[in-house]
Amino acid sequence: MELNFKIGNDALFKGKKIVGVMSGKGGVGKSTVSALFAMYLQRIKGIPTGMVDVDFTGSSQGKIFHVEPPIEVADGNKLVPKDSESGVKVMTLSLLLDDPEKPVIWRAPIMNKALTQFFEDTLWDDVQWLVVDLPPGTSDIPLSLMQKIPVTGFFLVTSPQDLVKTIVAKTMNMAKMLNKKVLGVVENYGYYKCPNGDIVYPFGKGKTEEVCSQWNIPFMGRLPIDSKFSEYADRGILYKVLDEMPEITEVFENMYNAVEKEG
Ligand SMILES: Nc1ncnc2c1ncn2[C@@H]1O[C@H](COP(=O)(O)OP(=O)(O)OP(=O)(O)O)[C@@H](O)[C@H]1O
Ligand SMILES: [Mg+2]
Repeated sequence: MELNFKIGNDALFKGKKIVGVMSGKGGVGKSTVSALFAMYLQRIKGIPTGMVDVDFTGSSQGKIFHVEPPIEVADGNKLVPKDSESGVKVMTLSLLLDDPEKPVIWRAPIMNKALTQFFEDTLWDDVQWLVVDLPPGTSDIPLSLMQKIPVTGFFLVTSPQDLVKTIVAKTMNMAKMLNKKVLGVVENYGYYKCPNGDIVYPFGKGKTEEVCSQWNIPFMGRLPIDSKFSEYADRGILYKVLDEMPEITEVFENMYNAVEKEG
């Protein structure tokens, strides 16, 4: 599928940071990590932040941020990103669909139009950082998006399994091919904190760090397995985990610093 949407209007995105979040495979917590990073920037760093969900077939940020249609149109034909309770402004497909349960048949022209709308035709004037939730994997669509979106850099979310080596290698090769920078790797489902305070590593420890040092990419840290993530995401209050689990904020501070370092 050939994507030729037009973004990268320099004037529009000048001075803004655009950060992509990707994963070599589905279900590793990419949407959770990208949402939490946006929430961290907005709530803890006080940076006006937007979330752009371009994972069209697996779009989940509408639920995580608890935003619903209708969406406002201003200045003639500009979409107004939806204000969420977390403070982050959100643009996601569910805001534009009448029936979110109906499958969306994507053809390149429709996708190009949606992408142009999400970036060029949305009023992002008030935000300084944009976090982009990309589709998982290394197929043509994530590849095209990675190529076209004018990002400062990408983060890769992985889970600590044996496949991590192959997945990181594939993604790094894709990034290299496109001349894009991977700023760091976040390990999700990295450990479990038992009720008695003991920490266990159900999938082993160290695989992600090993692969990071092999590829010379900074390791951003690991997030625990905790039912709060899914429970709060389902209730649209995911941002509350930042206050209730302060130990996880280090990961997002590391991500923030990695982006800042890029200038
Ligand atoms: N660390 C965690 N502990 C417990 N549950 C988690 C954790 N991270 C994510 N989840 C839950 O696992 C499910 C998948 O996470 P998420 O939607 O973030 O993954 P994803 O990589 O975006 O998936 P997809 O590839 O389908 O877009 C969600 O229900 C989420 O709430
Ligand atoms: Mg997702």
